[in-house]
Amino acid sequence: MKPHNIALLPAAGVGSRFGANIPKQYARLLNKPVLQHTIDLFAANPRISQIAVVVSPNDEWFDDCIALPPQAAVYRVGGNSRAESIANGLTYLLHHKMIDETDTVLVHDAARCCLPQTALNRLLDALEQDHENRGAILAIPVADTLKRQTPNAPHIAHTVSREYLWQAQTPQAFQAALLHHALQQADWTQITDDASAIELLGIQPILVEGDSRNIKLTRPDDARLAAYFLQNPDN
Ligand code: C5P
Repeated sequence: MKPHNIALLPAAGVGSRFGANIPKQYARLLNKPVLQHTIDLFAANPRISQIAVVVSPNDEWFDDCIALPPQAAVYRVGGNSRAESIANGLTYLLHHKMIDETDTVLVHDAARCCLPQTALNRLLDALEQDHENRGAILAIPVADTLKRQTPNAPHIAHTVSREYLWQAQTPQAFQAALLHHALQQADWTQITDDASAIELLGIQPILVEGDSRNIKLTRPDDARLAAYFLQNPDN
């Protein structure tokens, strides 16, 4: 039987750089919370069979503002870091047999609410060809010239070659058992994405071309850009 694709959405952060008085995943964009946009985009893709949202055990907002589609559920097992929230979510899902060890888990930041379906489908296509089980992530090749600064001031020390450099996005997708194992081995304070944990096992995940509209809402200015992308979908 073909493994299922499970979207796992970590949404347990506080998002302090975003500047709103609520966590950024609950900020409203075009009259809908950011997290709702993200849930809905996965619900709209028939290749995704389940959506698991991980929020903090102290979350005060979810129940009041999020409407879950039938294939989605919320788990209040978020931790102190993104990696811990994902590890806790995965442990819960596997332990309670809500997903299978061979299912594919697509981890996607709740704050990336503009992911185009075309990019999501590119990732799903790559996963279907991934016979070695390396997993795959969306990323974009670096376009700008990169400068490394001197240690004590923002002065240019030297230019860094951008050859072979990509900027990681999400979704980042791996077999459930592999990601679970990788996260159990990793130092959660040191890793900023899921692929890093897999890399530490010596596995080289596939880079799949992402989309520049797949931004992560981080600063207040990002909201205007995200609203524009959501209002002008091309897929
Ligand atoms: O803070 P940052 O933008 O890097 O967070 C990326 C994603 O990880 C967000 O969707 C955020 O809600 C989630 N996160 C989490 N648990 C944490 C910290 C962040 O689920 N402790």
